[in-house]
Amino acid sequence: MEKILTGIKPTGKLTLGNYIGVLKNIRALQDRGECYLFIADLHALTLPIDPEELRQNSIDIAAFYLASGLDPKKATLFLQSSVSAHAEANAIFQNYLYMGELSRMTQFKDKSAKMKESAIGLGLFAYPVLMAGDIVLYDADIVPVGEDQKQHVELTRDLVNRFNNRYGEVLKMPKPEMNKVGRRIMSLSDPTVKMSKSDPKGDIFLKDDIKVIRKKIMSAVTDLGSEVKYDPENKPGISNLLTIYAAMKDVSIEEAEKHFEGKRYGEFKGEVADAVIEVIEPLQQRYQQIIDSKSYLEVLKEGAQRASQLANKTLKRIKKAVGLLQIDE
Ligand code: TYM
Repeated sequence: MEKILTGIKPTGKLTLGNYIGVLKNIRALQDRGECYLFIADLHALTLPIDPEELRQNSIDIAAFYLASGLDPKKATLFLQSSVSAHAEANAIFQNYLYMGELSRMTQFKDKSAKMKESAIGLGLFAYPVLMAGDIVLYDADIVPVGEDQKQHVELTRDLVNRFNNRYGEVLKMPKPEMNKVGRRIMSLSDPTVKMSKSDPKGDIFLKDDIKVIRKKIMSAVTDLGSEVKYDPENKPGISNLLTIYAAMKDVSIEEAEKHFEGKRYGEFKGEVADAVIEVIEPLQQRYQQIIDSKSYLEVLKEGAQRASQLANKTLKRIKKAVGLLQIDE
């Protein structure tokens, strides 16, 4: 059975981009393979974050994973920080990824460009090292991600090649996997930039009031002309809304385009809002029940145990390969 792994970082509020990029696929993924889904809380420390906010965001992500259909009998849900193998793998792999390649990562360039050099933490620079460890510890075959994380998974593939060339077939080669529709949901106020947790303008948050969601969609930036057509270059706003509609309705872009043939922008936006609300409203209700019952706690505890078992096994293999003396064998 193939192994599938992905993570979400508990910074900021979850967006519709996170839902379409990953959460929406959870039901299908857990039926397809052995799934490891986690909350990348160590990654959240790579930028300054208030401790209480980090705790709350972590709970929220656990609850949204479950509300999206994660079944703890089929998939393993855990906190990255409760499986110490991640930190240990990080300490080893930091020696096999290089400054040059890390400094070329788009995410690092974007994030560090807004900061003073004296305030850029080592963890932000070495972010992909920790992430590579996350992936290889579970022998992941498939890593479902949005487009923005693809580069990090590609770097993990480079690490696996480098490591295996030197030590033999120790690490499993992972493959990034992206949606056909909705690998990069854009901001509603500026459809040339990604919808992201750290950029609240024009984003739909999964916890937004339903009325707010409708309002945000109705006032989304559109493009010149009046035709509802998929043309990301010339019509980025309309194309983004079409993508959101197609993802929510589980139809192709062509089918969505066809559905809106001859319709005006206003009517189009109204239907996009309906489609989003149809999915998000019940998601919010399930989320609230999970928060109230605190059912995520037991799931995270069990998940940490299951995840640790596999991660520790792989870690042992890695330690042995590089020559760390094994005294408990
Ligand atoms: P994060 O928390 O930024 O995002 C979680 C997932 O959502 C996807 N995503 C999007 N997809 C489509 N459109 C968007 N606008 C959009 N915004 C976000 C992301 O691509 C991601 O798949 N580094 C990761 C967390 C991580 C991880 C891992 C992922 C840590 N270790 C190992 C996979 C494997 C991150 O910050 O994702």
